[in-house]
Amino acid sequence: MLVSGSRSQHLTARLAAETGRRLAVPDVDRFADGEIRASVPEFSGQRAVIVAATPTNDAFVELLQLQDAVREAGARRVTTVLPYMGYARQDQSFRDGEPVSARAVARAIAAGTDRVVLVSPHEPAVAEFFDAETTVVDAASRLAAGLGELRDPLFLAPDEGAARIARGVRNAHGGGEVDYFTKHRHRDTGAVRIEPSETTATNRDVVVTDDIIATGSTVSRAIETLTDPRRIVAACVHPVLAGSARTRLAAAGVDRVVGTDTVERAASSVSVAPVVADEL
Ligand code: R5P
Repeated sequence: MLVSGSRSQHLTARLAAETGRRLAVPDVDRFADGEIRASVPEFSGQRAVIVAATPTNDAFVELLQLQDAVREAGARRVTTVLPYMGYARQDQSFRDGEPVSARAVARAIAAGTDRVVLVSPHEPAVAEFFDAETTVVDAASRLAAGLGELRDPLFLAPDEGAARIARGVRNAHGGGEVDYFTKHRHRDTGAVRIEPSETTATNRDVVVTDDIIATGSTVSRAIETLTDPRRIVAACVHPVLAGSARTRLAAAGVDRVVGTDTVERAASSVSVAPVVADEL
């Protein structure tokens, strides 16, 4: 049976259609003090697959509760699908006294599950923080399905690390050039500085690809360095799009944002269900 966290309902429904698994319908209440309480129906020995993105602290606590609830309800084995793992980018401590937040979160999640399926984490090495069998699914190539026709496409990554994503999207699209910028992020302020790539963007369709768009600063800074592109698409696996990110991208000249349903937003036009279903 599939159990959806509040933030992954579209994806879980698509997974049910893809795999033929039944859906359990959880209830989530909120107490007057803000605490939540998630409950599930009887499981009587079946396997539970919980699908729960954790873009917020509430979603994280809800996932821990769902894991506990399915065991209480009789699930014999628990698999946790993390379409988007909050705190994954905090994978090291940058100053004395800081936690490795990704590790703390991973430990808590691993304690309530037999297996984790982790979709496109910022760094695949974050999988090592889970004290449970963990499979990483790379969903970046799914983005090609949302791009449509492109003229003389240039797939650009905002940094060298994301060049792998740009290549995967280009290969799935079937053609185009790949290049990357050099990104510097200020340690204290988080301000992003981008050094331009040498490749010309003039009159081309440019697809800026990244694993996450959060504030939109990285993609916006990258776009500033482009000269006369024909059209700009921002493509990311995780369209977190926090605060004014969507407006920031539009103001910077982005014509369209293509994201997946690992984080459910208006821009989530592509589903990762086919690649996640392969792992269940
Ligand atoms: C960082 O290295 C990631 O790949 C993304 O570039 C970054 O997390 C995007 O964040 P923002 O949209 O806030 O610049």
